[in-house]
Amino acid sequence: MIRRIHHVGIVVRRLDEAYGFYRDTLGLPLLKEAEIPDQGVRAALLAAGDSEIELLEPLDPANGVGRFLARRGEGLHHLCFDTPDIAAALADLKNRKVELLDATPRQGLAGEIAFLHPGACARVLVELATPPDHGAPPAAPLRLKRLVLGARDVAATAEVFQSLFGFPSVPMNGGPRKMLAVGREALLVVPADEVGGTEGMVALSFVADDLPALFRAFDRAATQCLRGKSEVTVDPVSSHGVHLHISRYE
Ligand code: CO
Repeated sequence: MIRRIHHVGIVVRRLDEAYGFYRDTLGLPLLKEAEIPDQGVRAALLAAGDSEIELLEPLDPANGVGRFLARRGEGLHHLCFDTPDIAAALADLKNRKVELLDATPRQGLAGEIAFLHPGACARVLVELATPPDHGAPPAAPLRLKRLVLGARDVAATAEVFQSLFGFPSVPMNGGPRKMLAVGREALLVVPADEVGGTEGMVALSFVADDLPALFRAFDRAATQCLRGKSEVTVDPVSSHGVHLHISRYE
């Protein structure tokens, strides 16, 4: 029922500022930008391998996204899965008494979309989308590899995503973490204690084809980051509230 992580939604203060990092420094191609009045946002999609990054600027401080920005600041907001038939997916979830914010699909930036209630999904706001068929996405210098979720109960959180969406688990060598495959990407569920007590979405991992080129872009933009030989962690100060980990390898 789910083909891939369609996008990860990030709330930002201003799209123009966020483009400075996500489009100009990371080099993610901008796919589209539009006002979505019924979500109260101006939003943009940028290509990141098999997935996309959605940037959301609230149009009104009093709406849902505006209140999120005021309360939590910039950062990870929601997760969207690509399903080939959103009407069928919603009907299936309704049959299973899963709580939905949208009982029927509506038009969003990613195509026909609907949101589940965050209470249904281990306190993660999950969107489903059936995108229009535009063929292969443009090549991007980074591709999304993993989304990290913090959980008080790792096994229970992984079980929620497995039972709702049928994601297979990826074997890991013991330890308290659980990994679920979603298309070519994965959800990594870790104990909240490992991530400063945060529950829900905590970090994104990407693979970069050309890390030296990325480091040069970070130098030009004075991006705050911690560099290793084959990986880099970007300080959320520079990435609009998102913990980003970028490595050279899959
Ligand atoms: Co979205």
